[in-house]
Amino acid sequence: MKTYRIASIPGDGIGNEVIPAGIEVVEKLSSPEGFAVRFTHFDWSSKRYLETGRYIPEGGLDELKKFDAIFFGAVGAPDVPDHVSLWGLRLPICQGFDQYANVRPARVLPGVTSVLSNSNLIDWVIVRENTEGEYSGSGGRVHAGLPDEVATETSVFTRKGVERVHRFAFELARKRPRKQLTLVTKSNAQRHGMVLWDEIFFAVAKEYSEVKTDRILVDAVTTRMVLKPGSLDTIVASNLHADILSDLAAALSGSLGIAPTANLNPERRFPSMFEPIHGSAFDITGKGIANPIATFWTASMMLEHLGEAKAAARLMKAIEAVTAKKVFTPDLGGSARTRDVTRAVVDAL
Ligand code: IPM
Ligand code: MG
Repeated sequence: MKTYRIASIPGDGIGNEVIPAGIEVVEKLSSPEGFAVRFTHFDWSSKRYLETGRYIPEGGLDELKKFDAIFFGAVGAPDVPDHVSLWGLRLPICQGFDQYANVRPARVLPGVTSVLSNSNLIDWVIVRENTEGEYSGSGGRVHAGLPDEVATETSVFTRKGVERVHRFAFELARKRPRKQLTLVTKSNAQRHGMVLWDEIFFAVAKEYSEVKTDRILVDAVTTRMVLKPGSLDTIVASNLHADILSDLAAALSGSLGIAPTANLNPERRFPSMFEPIHGSAFDITGKGIANPIATFWTASMMLEHLGEAKAAARLMKAIEAVTAKKVFTPDLGGSARTRDVTRAVVDAL
């Protein structure tokens, strides 16, 4: 029987509640579908950082490299500055494993209500550049604490980095029914890196004549997402722009508690990482009410990436059967607990 080796990193906060739920669901699904999944647990977290001074122990990434995929919860804790936790755990994996294509689908699942009256038109995939741009880490501070202190935060865009994410987005858009790709930049104000984004996009577009394209500025696309959701399909944007747009997409789809992510290394030189986008949510940690749907949808993306498309589709159907019955955690207006939703999805499977 084909066995996949998955590294699980629940991380912080509700990551420790939703990842076990996700594992339960994947294990339930695997054997009837003719494959096995072996999870290996890593305790890389802010707790570990506070105890040992490191999120990832020495040699950790080399060990992680051997897995078929990474199932990640969240990182971020009240007692560690956010930039320390992010740069200590999530970014070393995304950047170290060249997971340059961050894929974020958004649509309103059955039974879920959105603030938009025409939310049935939301069917988007946001492709976020995931290794450079505004998250390159380039910059610094001089004259710390003095009145003349200066800080720089330099976005770094490389031709190679931009071209590969565009190519990925075109390949994805081409496989979707509407074959439509929207480029989001801010090339009026950001006249170097974003202009490079535009130029490379339209050069790559020549190879994909079957894909309809358009270009819009990042501020303008927020209004289009709200007012004309049906006019968008696949969207490609830089690391920070797509970060912001994907939160909007999640909220318009009903809740941050349902939105999934895949951090892909499309060439498969390294394992890809799958995570719910909601984060550690310390305000509800330990209460047993975290919404596991984002993690289940994420698990479906992971199965798809592993080549188990049938299992991925079955899981998605089970999720939709449960949302249709409105087995909802409080973020979706219900009173179900993480356990209840998990049980309902296991039963639907
Ligand atoms: C996301 C998150 C992260 C990001 C945070 C937790 C640093 O918002 O995955 O969208 O900005 O990348
Ligand atoms: Mg975000």
